[in-house]
Amino acid sequence: MTDFHSKARTELLANPFRPGNGVAPPYLAGRDAMLEEFERYLGESHPLHANWTLTGIRGTGKTVLLGEFATRGERAGWLCLGRELGDRHRDDARLADAIADDCAALIRRCSSLAGLGEVIERAWQYVRPRRLSVGELGYEPAYETESRDAAEAIGAALVALGDALAQTDVPGVLLLYDEAHLLGDDRRLERYPLSSLLAGFGQAQRTSSRVRLVLCGLPTLSLNLKRARTYAERMFRHVVIGQLEPRDAWDALGIPLSGSGRAFELPLVGEIVDRTGGYPYFLQFFGGFLCSRVGRADVALTDYLALESSLLHELDLAFFEDRYLVAGTAGQRVLDAMARAGGRLSALSLRRTLADLPNVDVVVRRLVDRGLVYRPTRGTYDFALPLFGSYLRRRAELTELTGRR
Ligand SMILES: Nc1ncnc2c1ncn2[C@@H]1O[C@H](COP(=O)(O)OP(=O)(O)OP(=O)(O)O)[C@@H](O)[C@H]1O
Ligand SMILES: [Mg+2]
Repeated sequence: MTDFHSKARTELLANPFRPGNGVAPPYLAGRDAMLEEFERYLGESHPLHANWTLTGIRGTGKTVLLGEFATRGERAGWLCLGRELGDRHRDDARLADAIADDCAALIRRCSSLAGLGEVIERAWQYVRPRRLSVGELGYEPAYETESRDAAEAIGAALVALGDALAQTDVPGVLLLYDEAHLLGDDRRLERYPLSSLLAGFGQAQRTSSRVRLVLCGLPTLSLNLKRARTYAERMFRHVVIGQLEPRDAWDALGIPLSGSGRAFELPLVGEIVDRTGGYPYFLQFFGGFLCSRVGRADVALTDYLALESSLLHELDLAFFEDRYLVAGTAGQRVLDAMARAGGRLSALSLRRTLADLPNVDVVVRRLVDRGLVYRPTRGTYDFALPLFGSYLRRRAELTELTGRR
């Protein structure tokens, strides 16, 4: 009876939090300075670095910020196009196709802004028109049949886009690519998506930086870029995001609550800021969980303490468990060894600790590919998931208690 009432009441109370993937938070905390800098960058016609990278470990709010970049860009008159890269784009030809499609879509926007069919006609020859129709203009260009080098194809599509842009009053075009850490070059498979991308942009930006790129992803992206091309350093300004400063983490909780008809007592807010380490996804998750489980408008620290173990269990299922399971037995041994060492570990100590595990380097490389681990510096590894170490320790304790894995 009580349970039923408390459930019904919880549903009536507001829950302002939004834990999720790329879901805009109720209040975007701690990013004002960076957003101002981004707007300044858009305002510069010759920025020191034509492009940006936005990197951070999982759940730090990269996708949300990338979306905010696009919104602000459009507001400043730029044409913005976002894309989430996937495994298929590790193949350079498919990446080149995707970029050509994006350029074609943007050329279409340019030409409708300029009211010019002619721009399309000239630009279109370069960007593989097969997939997109220009129905209203009744234009049927000839296919590009010869297969071109991916870098050249990317460069040609971007130059065509630049030409179309030059016919408009639009200040520039921004391509925003998420999950770009997937693009590492792979010599063994002879795939060079990142090198092709850099060469293509390098070529197109030689004359103008009105077509710009924001690459977003796990920290591995920075290392991949350095490896791909020495001149990548000059092409990108590297922006790293992480957990929120305590003051901003307080705002991330407090501002959505104010005006929602609910309140968390101060010691509870302090506890959540502490336990989440200020990581955005966790802040949303803790806030959202408590709002959904406590049937009163005012939530106290004691409520959290009573719910803590079920909250952590649900967090583990939502954020960690699947990622840990896909690591496989060998991968899990590496992750467990890292957790025992407190997270960051040198390759050398890892090999020593796991002397009986064959091909440790290959196992680690697979963990990097799966986005579980990254290399903060040459020869060291760290978790690409925040608070992963404490999850693994919880898991180990539970395994010990139940005798199951
Ligand atoms: N600045 C912020 N303040 C408050 N909440 C935020 C902030 N940034 C992101 N969030 C919240 O954090 C969660 C994760 O955001 P997002 O998906 O953008 O992270 P991500 O870094 O892209 O994660 P992943 O690496 O898994 O793709 C979302 O629920 C989002 O609403
Ligand atoms: Mg994301």
